[in-house]
Amino acid sequence: MDKNQTLNLRRKHIGPSCKIFFSHDPIKIVRAKGQYMYDEKGQRYLDCINNVAHVGHCHPDVVKAGAEQMEQLNTNSRFLHDNLVLFAQKLQATLPERLSVCYFVNSGSEANDLALRLAWQYTNNRDVITLENAYHGHVSSLIDISPYKLQHQSDVEHNPSVHVAPSPDVYRGKYRADHADPATAYADEVKDIIDKAHSKRRKIAAFIAESLQSCGGQVIPPAGYFQQVAKHVRKAGGVFIADEVQVGFGRVGSHFWAFQLQGDDFVPDIVTMGKPIGNGHPMSCVVTTKEVAEAFMSSGMEYFNTFGGNPVSCAIGLAVLDVIEKEDLRGNAVRVGRHLTHLLEKQKEKHLLIGDIRGVGLFVGVELVRDRTKLTPATAEAQEVIYRLKEEHILLSADGPHRNVLKFKPPMCFSVEDADLVVEKIDLILTELEKALGLTLKNTLDIANEGNKRKLQADENGNQCENGLVHSTEGGHGAPSHSKRNKRLQT
Ligand SMILES: Cc1ncc(COP(=O)(O)O)c(C=O)c1O
Repeated sequence: MDKNQTLNLRRKHIGPSCKIFFSHDPIKIVRAKGQYMYDEKGQRYLDCINNVAHVGHCHPDVVKAGAEQMEQLNTNSRFLHDNLVLFAQKLQATLPERLSVCYFVNSGSEANDLALRLAWQYTNNRDVITLENAYHGHVSSLIDISPYKLQHQSDVEHNPSVHVAPSPDVYRGKYRADHADPATAYADEVKDIIDKAHSKRRKIAAFIAESLQSCGGQVIPPAGYFQQVAKHVRKAGGVFIADEVQVGFGRVGSHFWAFQLQGDDFVPDIVTMGKPIGNGHPMSCVVTTKEVAEAFMSSGMEYFNTFGGNPVSCAIGLAVLDVIEKEDLRGNAVRVGRHLTHLLEKQKEKHLLIGDIRGVGLFVGVELVRDRTKLTPATAEAQEVIYRLKEEHILLSADGPHRNVLKFKPPMCFSVEDADLVVEKIDLILTELEKALGLTLKNTLDIANEGNKRKLQADENGNQCENGLVHSTEGGHGAPSHSKRNKRLQT
């Protein structure tokens, strides 16, 4: 179909709240391989954001495993099948011994929803502590514990059983890198929440957090934070749920699971997995301890899931684990991630707009700020970078509460050459942006304090930015006037 025809049909039949990337000029992707995606004209795009296509888009081993199993049999997990038990066994081998019981489900949301049910049943408590800016899924039980989704919803009634702890962000958060012990300070905040809840006779069932906050702005919690939180939460009768939906399966390189970055002495009670687990096939998993699983069983209610753990999904899951090992993708994440962060660090020395570089393996964030002291978020600039990269056929996105953090989470086959290319383009774009803004290392103009009228503009998802710059065609403060997108926005 012609691209416009596809777009018109989409507008007619697909819910308008299902946003599209680059809504003013969406991309129609028709095939993909490795870290590259191709549009209907055969134009190649470098994919820096798809952590679902973990071992590479359409990896032949994964496709083959799924197709071959689909030719043989696909049915539910009420029958004995080797794929189910072999996949559970192989997955368990990547985890601490204590986490030995799997429930296979179909999406990250379903995994987190089941994790809550396990926690409620095991603890007999109801309240959940979540982090500022967290996102855990789209189902009703999870929207309440996803402040990321509620930021701009002033009319949403607060759920009294949900408590929000500060994000352990040592760059922009309440306790920063200059604090003597941010891990303890942030964990003490959780303890305070527990004490306050207890004073109102509320009881904590769980603390849930991504092992590294992704939508929340590529935040890497200080080491030791999870151990201390777990101690406070368990003392209160609750469990620790680690959401590895975005960051698991070796993305951090040095470890298979991102929670392991905290140290060997930390083991969550429940781990949820999704996105990369099936390399694009819709599947997910919850892994927990024998004790939690037995408590869930004690309710007497059967847990049945029509598609979860079917032989096709398990064949695919097994193939993904094999490819991670066979192609040493964790090693690649370490090497390329180190190279990428090194290149970006050099850019930070050159570009005032770069406030912070943080990352582990192929999970990297670049926080853009208009002022390095005040940390004024450079939201419009981040969006401009994303749009301009798209014009260079590179797909990156900006996230975090201010949508000013460029987030890298590419397929794990991302190469040194890919890193070189994207950083070279970011360098050129930032150079132009800073020139237009009058931001140079010699001239640190604080545009945040100016009376410059700011106009709302859309981000790559079609959402309105909070503080977009006026993009003047007559020079002055704003993005370079030759940006095609700016011209389009102005007309
Ligand atoms: C951290 C995290 N948890 C859970 C989910 C929900 O996963 P899904 O979209 O597969 O339901 C997401 C989705 O983006 C996520 O980022």
